[in-house]
Amino acid sequence: MLTQEKYLDLFENYLAQTELPAEPELLYTPIAYSLSGGGKRLRPVLLLLTHGLFSESVHEALPAAAAVEVFHNFTLLHDDIMDNASLRRGKPSVHAKWGQNVAILSGDAMMIYAYKLLSRIQHPRLQEVLTVFNQTALEVCEGQQYDMDFEQKQKVSVVEYMRMIELKTSVLLAGSVVIGALLGGASEEECRALRRFGVELGLAFQLQDDLLDSYGDQELGKAIGGDILEGKKTYLMVTAMSHGDESQREILRKTHLDATLSDQEKIARVKAVYDALDVKRLTEQQIGLRFERALAQLDTLSVPAERVQVLRDYAMSLMGRKK
Ligand code: IPE
Ligand code: IPE
Ligand code: MG
Ligand code: MG
Ligand code: MG
Repeated sequence: MLTQEKYLDLFENYLAQTELPAEPELLYTPIAYSLSGGGKRLRPVLLLLTHGLFSESVHEALPAAAAVEVFHNFTLLHDDIMDNASLRRGKPSVHAKWGQNVAILSGDAMMIYAYKLLSRIQHPRLQEVLTVFNQTALEVCEGQQYDMDFEQKQKVSVVEYMRMIELKTSVLLAGSVVIGALLGGASEEECRALRRFGVELGLAFQLQDDLLDSYGDQELGKAIGGDILEGKKTYLMVTAMSHGDESQREILRKTHLDATLSDQEKIARVKAVYDALDVKRLTEQQIGLRFERALAQLDTLSVPAERVQVLRDYAMSLMGRKK
C-alpha cells in the first residue's frame, strides 16, 4: 500500500494525461478550469486508499478514481447554478464566469466524460462497479432535489435533513470507497463495512460544510453565508429551528426574504440566533459523533492494521478542516 501523497500524485498524473479536445472552446475550457481548480480530491483519494487495502495494482483503479472526481466536479457546476453561488475554490464559479448555459452543457459533458473514464476499466467486476456508480449518481440527483425542495419547506426535521445529505453528499463518498474495495477484491462483508464508513464520513463532511458556510473564513474559497441567503435547511438552520422560541424561529424563517436588509445584515441576524442557541457547538458535536462512527467501521475490517491506519489517518486529517 502506498502513502496518501503517492496516491494523490498518481491520480493527478493520470487525470492530467487524459487530454480534452480544444474545441468548441466554450465546452471544454470550463471543464479544464473545473478539473484543475484546486479541489481536495477527496473522493478519488478515498477510492485509491480503499483499493490499496486489498490490492497493490493501483493502476487498475485509476480510471474509476478519475471518474468519481469528474462526476463530483460536474455536480458542482450545476450545484453552483442551483445555489446562486458565484465563488468556488476562491475563483468565479463556471456559471459566474461563462454564464448558465455554458455551465449546464459543460456539466453535462463532464457527466458523460465520467462514464467514458469508467469504460476504460478492465476488470471482472466492472458490472458491479457500474451498478454502484449508477445508483450513486441517481441518488446524488435525488439529494440535490430534496435540498431544493427543503428551501421552500417550513419544517424540516433532523431526520429528513440527514437523509437529504446522505443522498446529496454521502453516497458519493460511500460509492467511491465501495468501488475501490470492489476493484481491490474485497468481500461482500468488507464492502458493506466500508460503505457504512463512507456514509458516516460523508455525513460528517457535509455537516462540516454546513458549519464552514456560516462560520468559515476566506480559506474556504466559497462565499461565507451563502446558505443563509439562499434559505437552505442546513444542520445549523434545522437545529436552530427546533431549539428556538417563536420569535427566534420568525427571524430564521423570514430574514433571507427581507428586501430591506443587506446580505451582511441578513447573515449577521441569522448568526446571532445561531450564537444565542449554541448551534455551532451542537453541530460540532454531531460532526464528532459521525467521525467516530465512521472510524469504528474500520475496526471491523480483517485487513493488516498498518493498511487500515493509512485510511484512518486520511479520514482524521479531514477533522477540523478549514476548506
Ligand atoms: C463540495 O465538495 C461539495 C460538497 C459535497 C460539500 P468538496 O469540499 O469535496 O469540494 P472540492 O472538490 O474539494 O472543492
Ligand atoms: C453539495 O452541497 C452537494 C453536491 C454538490 C452534490 P452544497 O451545495 O452544500 O455544496 P457547496 O457548499 O456548494 O460546495
Ligand atoms: Mg452549493
Ligand atoms: Mg447545493
Ligand atoms: Mg455547502
